[in-house]
Amino acid sequence: MANKKDSISSSVGLFGDIGIEGIVERSEAIEVPEGDTLARILAELKSESHICGVCKPGMPVIFGMGPERADLMLIGEGPGVDDIKTELPFQGQAGALLAKMMAAINVGLGECYVCNVIKCIPPGERNFSVEEIEDCRPYLLRQILAVRPRVIVAFGALAAQTLLRSRKTISELRGEVYTLRLNDHEMKIVPTFNPAYLLRVPEKKREAWEDLKRVREMREV
Ligand code: URA
Repeated sequence: MANKKDSISSSVGLFGDIGIEGIVERSEAIEVPEGDTLARILAELKSESHICGVCKPGMPVIFGMGPERADLMLIGEGPGVDDIKTELPFQGQAGALLAKMMAAINVGLGECYVCNVIKCIPPGERNFSVEEIEDCRPYLLRQILAVRPRVIVAFGALAAQTLLRSRKTISELRGEVYTLRLNDHEMKIVPTFNPAYLLRVPEKKREAWEDLKRVREMREV
């Protein structure tokens, strides 16, 4: 049986096996430009040289919102149509529920850095391919290193799987706190259901509440 403290190197391929019984830690090293900042990452995403199957120069980039450094980072899956006008994540009903969820653990959205794995909306609002998610992933990891959160809440399967390199479902991944070491920075990852999903399946709110209580406990330490 796997050791609880086993760490998984990033060489395991697109999906590692975090979440298999007992494995809760993962380490990854990524290349980051010297003096990297959120502004620089956004400029790169918007530049002509940004190569991605979906996000083309001139398209709205829904990058993130909140303080440049934050103890708590909230990562969703991808923007919705409500987010295009403002170019901000979690607008509309999912955002309203997110704010309520965080308020329930005494956290204001304004004190968190909020973003998504995916930064734009594909034509026809289709789902993203694995390759497209991989194109976006390095930008997300650079965002994390710029913000340096102590705790990340990963809202939904895509967010949790992308951070943890897992194929497990969100129902399988949630209920556990994971440790992610990214270069020199270590943080806790708490996977839970996406507010957009909870709007459709409200009976899952009880489990999401259990996850959020863990976040509250971690913040009290
Ligand atoms: N809106 C977002 O920005 N992200 C989600 O994951 C869901 C709704």
